[in-house]
Amino acid sequence: MFALIPAAGSGSRAAAGEAKQYALLAGRPMLWHAIRAVCVPPVQSVFVVLAPGDRTFASHDWSAYEGRLEPLYCGGASRRDSVHNGLLATLGDRDAGDWVLVHDAARPCLSRADLDRLIAACEQHEVGGILALPIAETVKRAAHDHIEKTEERSDLWLAQTPQMFRVGLLLQALRQARGAVTDEASAVEQLGLKPKLVQGSRENLKVTWPEDLALAEGILERRA
Ligand code: CTP
Ligand code: MG
Repeated sequence: MFALIPAAGSGSRAAAGEAKQYALLAGRPMLWHAIRAVCVPPVQSVFVVLAPGDRTFASHDWSAYEGRLEPLYCGGASRRDSVHNGLLATLGDRDAGDWVLVHDAARPCLSRADLDRLIAACEQHEVGGILALPIAETVKRAAHDHIEKTEERSDLWLAQTPQMFRVGLLLQALRQARGAVTDEASAVEQLGLKPKLVQGSRENLKVTWPEDLALAEGILERRA
């Protein structure tokens, strides 16, 4: 089993001054924490997909992951392209039946318990699956600045990462996917398959907006 971390975005919404994956949280780049969360058995190696012109990665210290971490300078214009390019780059030494965990660089607070639960639930599953959270808040559909209607939320979940699929299936899904594909599962769904939903935790937040940086840092510092 291996992990692939797309980290080729610019982090425009987080406005962290540099790409958010390099923002320092508890003294380490966000990406360092995201790698740490997935660089544990049974994951044997972690590939990080970087923008082709990335100069920042090489300026940080990754020695904690010596021998298990490989940067791939093949990021694309969208997250989907970055994941697709990264999978193609790793293909040489992978079996199509190998499991891959795709995990956002922007989720530095993934816990070991959530990762273990995902792997245990998906390993025996025929398609694979994702960490996700049932929606707790009431959901409104907006029209401009007012409420158009209230949505039924009982069957709605928020998708997180990691998302765990077999490499061959995921490559086929990403190659064929149409429309907005903002996670791996949505590409797999387009093949008519039904990935498993595995309940995760709110602590596995995606750092998107400026205030998320302090929330993530608080979680990491409390655990340290
Ligand atoms: N990502 C990527 N390649 C892209 C775009 C995004 O590898 N072309 C990665 C990001 O680095 C991040 C993950 O996909 O780890 C989730 O994307 P998002 O949170 O949207 O990050 P950004 O695209 O960097 O942020 P923004 O949309 O605010 O610019
Ligand atoms: Mg983005």
